[in-house]
Formats: sequence, structure tokens, C-alpha cells
Amino acid sequence: MPCHFLKLSDFSGETLRYMIDRAKVIKADLKAGKRYEPFAGKVLIMVFEKASTRTRVSFETGFYQLGGNVVNLQSQGSQIGRSESIADTARVISRMGDLIMMRTFGQDRLDDMAVHSRVPVINGLTNEYHPCQILTDILTFEEHCGPITGKTVAWVGDANNMAYTWIEAAKLLGFKLHFSSPKGYELDPALTLAGDHLKVFDDPVECCRGADLVTTDVWTSMGYEEENAVRREAFAKWQVNADSMAAANQGAVFMHCLPAHRGEEVTADVIDGPQSVVWDEAENRLHAQKAIMEYCLLGRVE
Ligand code: CP
Ligand code: NVA
Repeated sequence: MPCHFLKLSDFSGETLRYMIDRAKVIKADLKAGKRYEPFAGKVLIMVFEKASTRTRVSFETGFYQLGGNVVNLQSQGSQIGRSESIADTARVISRMGDLIMMRTFGQDRLDDMAVHSRVPVINGLTNEYHPCQILTDILTFEEHCGPITGKTVAWVGDANNMAYTWIEAAKLLGFKLHFSSPKGYELDPALTLAGDHLKVFDDPVECCRGADLVTTDVWTSMGYEEENAVRREAFAKWQVNADSMAAANQGAVFMHCLPAHRGEEVTADVIDGPQSVVWDEAENRLHAQKAIMEYCLLGRVE
């Protein structure tokens, strides 16, 4: 059975901790100029059913740096876009590549890829989860603020893939997740794990009180574009701004997975201000995903 990376709650907190710590080592070794090419002769196949900048570039760069080669498949321009099934696509591409990364719509499409694949499948974002991004964000948080266990993360905005993955991480790694979204855009209880890791707030500024990390994301995720105008109105108050950061703890950092819309979910003074670590966060996709890919293909190496 291949070692897939489909969602965080498929793993123990201890295994996620291993991957985050391993990413720190991989990053330090790269910065020290060490060559590490365990994927020589291997091929990563990336399947994109939605747009991407960071995921595409970080997976591709990371796999090359680890010695391998990459094939990039877009749904438009491949037979997936002409309705060849995910199952048949998985049967074919997993006989050629050593590892698959997929960005798609419902998690059921990703699960379908994994069930029919002979090789590990990594979640590069679904409607429900974005696990590579959240491991990256925890790595970034810990570089700036120390261990995340026992800390408080405030999520202001949509109940989307990022929010649900933060909730999983909070449960597994032992921190608090404050969450606030407008009425009509509440969390789906089926996607939130039971426990006292999650606290829901009506007020977006109160949500940030006592937080060590304030984070948000676009009001309209990919695949929901037709709701854009309605969402703009509904989410107007769910903006991270100077008031949000003033409510957070001193030394709190701001993160956003990007792409961002200044003046919508975050003001320019916050995302471009001294508490923002969004560029470190973007770079860390490279390092965190190397640890994830290494785990899927080679297991624990230290
Ligand atoms: N954060 C993120 O996943 O960015 P892309 O959509 O550019 O890949
Ligand atoms: N929630 C966003 C994240 C983009 C990286 C989306 O799914 O579009």
C-alpha cells in the first residue's frame, strides 16, 4: 500500500511533528549548500485541475533539487479535461511515475486517484483540505515564534480548505484554533474533529484576542467564483486589519497562503507590515513539501 498524503488526520501528531522537524533539517542543509539527491531516476507527475503558482513551482523545484524529474499535467490539455475518469488516469500514470501530486475539486476525486494508484499520491489542495500548506505554515510559525504546541492561531474568514486543515492540525499538534466567519458561512461539523482545540467567535476582532498567529485567506476560493459578488458583501467585516493585529498578542505574526487581495480579506498595512511573514511562508512550501515527498517515498530517514 503506497504512503499517500491526502489529509493531516490520516497521520498521528507524532508523524506530522517528524515531517515538520525534517523540513527544518532539509532547509538548513540546502542553505548550507549540501547536495541531497535521493530521487535520482524518479519522476513526479503533477495533475492540476485548478490554477496554481506556488504549488506548481515549489513541487517542481523541490523534486528537481532532490535529483528527480517532473511531468506537469493540466486537466485542460489532457484527457481528464475530456472526461477520462480519475481512476483510469491513476491506473495509467502510476505505471510510469513514482509519485503523484494532485490539485483538484472534491476530496473524493483525490481519494479516487489514491485508490487506483500504485504509487503515493499527495494532496496539492482540494475543496476540503490543503495539508501541504498547513505543514508549511507551522514550519514558518515555529521559525518565528517557537513551538506551536500550546499556542493560539486565529482564523478570520471563510470556512474553507485552509480553515479545515488548520482545525485538523490544532487537534493533532495540541494548539488552539480560534475561528470566525460570517453567518451563512459557518463550519461544516462533518469536517471539524471533536475536541476543545476549536473555539468559534461571532466577532472577527474578538477572534484574534490572545492569538500568536493571525491568518486568513481569500473570501472566494477556486471553484466558487460565481459566488464572488455575494461573498464580497457577506465577508466585508471579516478582514484582517490593524484592529485584528492590535487584539492579538504582542509578537504575533500574520500569515496568508497567497494569492491575497489587499483591501479585501487583509489590509495592505498588515500583509506588507512588520508582523507579516508571508514571503517566508511562501518559500517554505519548497522545504516542507520536500519532507512530505521524502516521507511518502522513503519513510523516515533519521
Ligand atoms: N498557496 C497556494 O497553494 O498557492 P497556489 O494556488 O499559487 O499554488
Ligand atoms: N482557499 C484557496 C486557497 C488557494 C491557495 C482556494 O482554494 O482557492
